[in-house]
Amino acid sequence: MSDFVNGFWGYYIAAVVLLGIAWCLWLLFSQRKWLGARTGAVQDTGHVWDGDLRELNNPVPRWWTMMYVLMCFFGLGYLVLYPGLGAFNGSLGYTSAQEVRHDQSELNAQVKPVYEKFAKMDIPAIAADVEARVIGQRLFLNNCAQCHGSDAKGATSFPNLVEGDSLYGRTPEALQASITNGRNGIMPGLQAIVDARMAGDIAQYVRSLSGLAHDQIRVIRGKREYLNNCVACHGADGKGNKALGAPNLTDDVWLYGSSEATIVHSILNGRNNRMPAQEHLLTPDQIRLLTAWVWGLSGGRDITGSVAQKAAAAQ
Ligand code: HEC
Ligand code: HEC
Repeated sequence: MSDFVNGFWGYYIAAVVLLGIAWCLWLLFSQRKWLGARTGAVQDTGHVWDGDLRELNNPVPRWWTMMYVLMCFFGLGYLVLYPGLGAFNGSLGYTSAQEVRHDQSELNAQVKPVYEKFAKMDIPAIAADVEARVIGQRLFLNNCAQCHGSDAKGATSFPNLVEGDSLYGRTPEALQASITNGRNGIMPGLQAIVDARMAGDIAQYVRSLSGLAHDQIRVIRGKREYLNNCVACHGADGKGNKALGAPNLTDDVWLYGSSEATIVHSILNGRNNRMPAQEHLLTPDQIRLLTAWVWGLSGGRDITGSVAQKAAAAQ
């Protein structure tokens, strides 16, 4: 119950719960006359419907009263054993998070033999294994497709994992690091040093790098400003920096879009994009299979031809 902002609320909830049960018992007690033992003579309320339907006032059966009292005590017993009384954790120390972790480790132990086979294989070999690819795709559809798309081709702000240049690289090591630790691509907004007109000129220059339609005069001004403000991350040639996740601006592959307005938005307001770390969500075995699957998608382009060919031949 660590999510209470201060100690008071724990006591408040415990009081509400206990008073609730006490109220239930008081209610029963206050009605005891009406509950009284059956005396033989049945009290008639005097209400009659349809000529012969009379409403009687029988005391409730004893078994009902017993059950009512038992339920109250059951509730109290439960609150002693399990969490429910504000900040009190219950004498059994039960938490639902623990139960999930327990179920998870049981499940992981069950599937471990499936992954054992791949433990000694390197990423290219796993990528070439048909069974591993089936598992990899299933893992991807369950854990990654909501952001990267079921075809892994991404969407606005979610990188395409199949084609085009990548932000952080597609070597098995880079992919495994992206998946395990997550990524956070940060471009600071440059509003303080670049005005909107200047940003428009720079955007024209950036468009020209990818061979898109541009205004020649503005490109000349934009290039100067680009060299002043952008090379630290995107490089003098605009090819980006994989260590920072600064995208290649020359390949006509866009996370956000290629229109002047979109590029100006990136320049003025910056971007902050996050890939969530998977290390606590997936097992290292699962991450290895996913790495191999994603690496295989792009044809293992970032690895020397000989290894990729060996993997393909082994299939
Ligand atoms: C909540 C959305 C989300 C989920 C879920 C997600 N990703 Fe990502 N992923 C992103 C974003 C956003 C980026 C880009 C981060 C950046 O711009 O720095 C990214 C980046 C990546 C990269 C680096 C791409 C590059 O161009 O270098 C890889 C690889 C990747 N994700 C794989 C995966 C895999 C595999 C899974 C499933 C286990 C997954 N992602 C789940 C949002 C997500
Ligand atoms: C401190 C490093 C840094 C600087 C300086 C910087 N950028 Fe970026 N830029 C990045 C990063 C990192 C990203 C990727 C953000 C993400 O993952 O969403 C990015 C993204 C972009 C994008 C989006 C690309 C796409 O695919 O949609 C554009 C366009 C861009 N930058 C242009 C510029 C221009 C032009 C300048 C100079 C005015 C500049 N950047 C300065 C780091 C930087």
